[in-house]
Amino acid sequence: SSAMAVGGGCPFTGSNAKAEATKAKCPFDNTPADFDMFEGPYQVDPAEALRWSRDREPVFYSPKLGYWIVSRYEDVKAVFRNNDVFSPSIALEKMTPNSPEANAVLEKYDYGMNRTLVNEDEPAHMERRRVLLHSFLPEELAHHEEMVRKVTRQYVDRFVDRGEVDLVEDMLWEVPLIIALNFLGVPEEDMDRLREYSIAHTVNTWGRPTLDEQIGVAEAVGKFWQFSGEVLEKMRKNPNGHGWMDYSIRKQKELPEVVTDSYLHSMMMAGIVAAHETTANASANAFKLLLENRALWESICANPALIPNAIEECLRFSGSFVAWRRRAIKPAVVGGVDIPEGAKLLIVMASANHDERHFENPDELDIYRDNTTDHLTFGYGSHQCLGKNLARMEMRIFFEELTKRLPHMELVPNQKFEYLPNTSVRGPDNLWVRWDPSKNPERTNPEILGSRYPIKIGPPSKQDLSREMRVETLERIGENILAVTLKDPNGNALPRWNAGSHIDFEVGDFSRKYSLCGEAGDNSTLKVAILREDNGRGGSLHIHQTLREGMSVRIRGPKNHFRLNETHDDYVLIAGGIGITPIIAMADRLKSLGKPYQVHYAGRVRANMAMVGRLMRDHGAVTSLYAGDEGQSLDLAATVAGIGAQTHIYSCGPESLLNALQDLMEPIADRLHIEHFSAVATGLDPENETAFEVELADSERTLTVAANETLLDALEAAGIDIQSDCREGLCGSCEVRVLDGEADHRDKAMSATEHATSDRLMSCCSRAKKGSRLVLAL
Ligand code: HEM
Ligand code: FES
Repeated sequence: SSAMAVGGGCPFTGSNAKAEATKAKCPFDNTPADFDMFEGPYQVDPAEALRWSRDREPVFYSPKLGYWIVSRYEDVKAVFRNNDVFSPSIALEKMTPNSPEANAVLEKYDYGMNRTLVNEDEPAHMERRRVLLHSFLPEELAHHEEMVRKVTRQYVDRFVDRGEVDLVEDMLWEVPLIIALNFLGVPEEDMDRLREYSIAHTVNTWGRPTLDEQIGVAEAVGKFWQFSGEVLEKMRKNPNGHGWMDYSIRKQKELPEVVTDSYLHSMMMAGIVAAHETTANASANAFKLLLENRALWESICANPALIPNAIEECLRFSGSFVAWRRRAIKPAVVGGVDIPEGAKLLIVMASANHDERHFENPDELDIYRDNTTDHLTFGYGSHQCLGKNLARMEMRIFFEELTKRLPHMELVPNQKFEYLPNTSVRGPDNLWVRWDPSKNPERTNPEILGSRYPIKIGPPSKQDLSREMRVETLERIGENILAVTLKDPNGNALPRWNAGSHIDFEVGDFSRKYSLCGEAGDNSTLKVAILREDNGRGGSLHIHQTLREGMSVRIRGPKNHFRLNETHDDYVLIAGGIGITPIIAMADRLKSLGKPYQVHYAGRVRANMAMVGRLMRDHGAVTSLYAGDEGQSLDLAATVAGIGAQTHIYSCGPESLLNALQDLMEPIADRLHIEHFSAVATGLDPENETAFEVELADSERTLTVAANETLLDALEAAGIDIQSDCREGLCGSCEVRVLDGEADHRDKAMSATEHATSDRLMSCCSRAKKGSRLVLAL
């Protein structure tokens, strides 16, 4: 849980919400009837403004807006996932409908913006998306890297000696626009006019424009539309470049019924909008966040390998799209709430991205977070942002150039950040930074101007996420057990962790998971206890042999796959051997919550039962110990039989203990909680699947796909790079060509007709028909 949740304070008044509840209501603590998106808390901090909803009413109807608001991670993702029920057709509809006068202006310009990819229903959408996603493949995006770097450097050159600049005005607003125009393939000589017309669409679509504003916007939109058409006609004459529009024009010749004229004209205009403001705002949010957290800014200056994940974390923490829309075209259920047919839904990604049910310490900016790419700022599933890897590449280059050339820049203090009032797009209007130009590194070391960090296109690499820690103390707390206390080498605070959290501990080539077992509330150290397993895979032995105080190690996490649900009435905690580590943290937590609980701790030999002293000191009255070498044993059957009707059991220990508990508790399985270290399920039932062979024609190899793995897994394990996003058959990015064999299609990215006739398959979920062998063009 977060700083705010823990403190319970109102972010507006600074008072304690609970204590003051009777006096003045905290404006962040809202109700469905009062909730407003155009003013108040939502405009200040959309994630915080929906905390009450995430906690108490995660799906609710807002009478003021006429929308159903969805605020939890799982529910937002479920709506994105299912576009048979939740149509994207209203995604770009105006929140505030146009006046007749504004519509008359648009008519004057023959304005005919039609469906573009983002608000299109199936089956038209997926067919088009799959035809057009070619320009977004890594090898295609690589053609634009040089251009992105050149434009970025040009802008930085202009202000690098100035000492103070508004990053939004002087760089982050314009550079993504110029990159968007280049990406589309717009001829150089037409860029200036398009730049002039592509004015803030945000107010028009997601804001509450006044009547006068509406007419002004309509004039600009009309002109933009007209001129986009002219530029398109010109591009048709020579569509040979790497631009997305060039490619689309070429594809039209092959597939005129998929890539229509109306589509091309609409996309010409919509493409600029999709690529521009999104990336400009996301960049401004990210610079603001990282400069506000100076220690993190310094970390990325010192180690550019951290930049990709830091950007991703900023997209999670404060994305440029905070909400998106869908319409229920059938009666539906979201998060247990009935949604009527025709209902409009506002799914709030900003809220989902701060949902503690999915992200550890969601209100902390943690650039090492290893599931940060799960954020929903790019949407999810069949409409997930096609341009996300272009946006990532741009932002990485912005950060790389500025951390290299102006590492000493800082936010101008006491500036007030203004945001354009609207429901969906978010970024500061200005971002003033300053620095001492005489200290610019390039003045003494001009080589840095030529240096560049290699850009990898795609999501951040997990390899770069580990953080360095120092071994503060080592203590033997059992015959074969080492307690290890870790500290940040620079003394920085560490991320908060909860009972049940673990870290991945990397020593040499080994990486092992260990539960955290330090004292609650200590965020300056992390503590684990490591049992030497002489017959294990060698990791613990290696750690015991090589670890020394003062040594530097690398860790990932903390993460929690063993969460304590704090809402139950009664708890029994059962630990076997070294499994005491998460259990003692849970006992500490339950004690501080004042919940009834009991602890059973069994070990084979007393000498290897760790932390008995601390356990008995803090939990002695409710703890029973069973040392095998002293003839004591835990009677699991009797313990389970004796629990109350509301009791939940949390257990950690050897496989045999957990299996026995699972058997005993089969009829009440929902009251048994054990750790699941493998968080990703493939959704495959190995009992009903069969293994099959695939032959890779280009690389002349044959692989076997086991019954419990996907084709994509097998290809990746064999070192073959395949694009993938959703990994559940929705987005179309993992397509491969089948040269021979019969595919068993299981995706939703292709239509039934295509399944019958196409030579493609989605490798994340489709397999070979029983008895068939697939030959792939890989
Ligand atoms: C779709 C966000 C940059 C092109 C989307 C969607 C979101 C989004 C939320 C809708 C997703 C859904 O319905 O599931 C963003 C953000 C960006 C960004 C936050 C920057 C940080 C770009 C760029 C391009 C782009 C640079 C380049 C052209 C598109 C396209 C779609 C889309 C074509 C429609 C895909 C479809 O419906 O199949 N984006 N976007 N976006 N975006 Fe982006
Ligand atoms: Fe999305 Fe396969 S369809 S990764």
